[in-house]
Amino acid sequence: MENLENLKQQILSNIQQAPDVKALDEIRVSAMGKKGAVTELMKGLGALPQDEKIETGKKLNVLKQEIESALSARKDALETAELNQKLASESVDVTLPIRPENQGRIHPVSKIYEEVVAIFGQMGFDVAEGPDIEDQFHNFNALNMPANHPARQMQDTFYLPHSATEPFDMDKSYVIRTHTSGMQIRTMEAQKPPIRIIAPGRTYRSDYDATHTPMFHQVEGLVIDKTTTLAHLKGCLYDFVKAFFELDEIPVRYRPSYFPFTEPSAEMDIGCLKTKTELKIGAGNDWLEILGCGMVHPNVLKAGGIDPDEYQGFAFGVGLDRLAMLKYGIPDLRTFFESDVRWLKNYGFAPLDFSSMTGGLSNNGGQTR
Ligand code: DAH
Repeated sequence: MENLENLKQQILSNIQQAPDVKALDEIRVSAMGKKGAVTELMKGLGALPQDEKIETGKKLNVLKQEIESALSARKDALETAELNQKLASESVDVTLPIRPENQGRIHPVSKIYEEVVAIFGQMGFDVAEGPDIEDQFHNFNALNMPANHPARQMQDTFYLPHSATEPFDMDKSYVIRTHTSGMQIRTMEAQKPPIRIIAPGRTYRSDYDATHTPMFHQVEGLVIDKTTTLAHLKGCLYDFVKAFFELDEIPVRYRPSYFPFTEPSAEMDIGCLKTKTELKIGAGNDWLEILGCGMVHPNVLKAGGIDPDEYQGFAFGVGLDRLAMLKYGIPDLRTFFESDVRWLKNYGFAPLDFSSMTGGLSNNGGQTR
């Protein structure tokens, strides 16, 4: 029976040293297969005398079990090692930068949107979003623009039928919003003052040239409180343009203007230098119109359910696309919406450059464009 012990040691040591699952299987076949060493011994049992037969049979059964459990333990160990090696070799380093040739780009309008939200967010404004399809009450009437008001003709409005079956009725029809100012009313309806919101979003007018597209973007601003004054408006918008153009100083002026929903109304200009080839913002003797603003008209407060004897506030409206054109020197608005990948490669932004007031607004100095 010494032979049996030797055989056992030999097989167990082979199992321990099997380099992979395939080699392990070969060892299993050579021991336990049809012509395996242990199988052969089992076959030989019949020729033994009765008492030896029983004893050797028991030993062989124990041996078989030992070999089987050693095989399965080794198999587990090899499989785990193989899996770990595979996992290690296939692991992805998610912190690696995207390969430049595969990198998508953020559209300048999305970038400007983020920047504007970052600036006003830091000033404590909430972001309010509303529907593109608007009723005439919110888009016009409540903003002190009743039917037949001449200001309605200033905006080349797209009207939508109010019903699929009834004939078109101008008074009942919906519009796709011509401005984001309707969000002033929706905000007043939804919350009590003090109010401090910006409402960015898509707006629509029937217009098409280098500086107008049928769909464009605006941000509306609204601040209402008991003691909100024109001085707050000026301070807020001054801080905004400085932060937006990333300049310490920037000349500004307010020109009297007219909007039905504000009284007084103004347009804000910023200083710039215009040459034949260049537009430089911040210094120089020229002015550039940047936004419309004013003190919220008492009729608008009333339409929003706010008592104008108790509350007052200011509002402003800025074109996001126009801001993008100015800040990033993009000459033609129509190109914004042509979905030309070459354009986006040139004017777009790296997706991981988030805009923030602390980490940098546009990251425009780096290799992000
Ligand atoms: N709604 C105006 C437009 O689309 C922009 C505007 C001007 C909004 C003055 C305002 C404002 O809130 O006070 O041209």
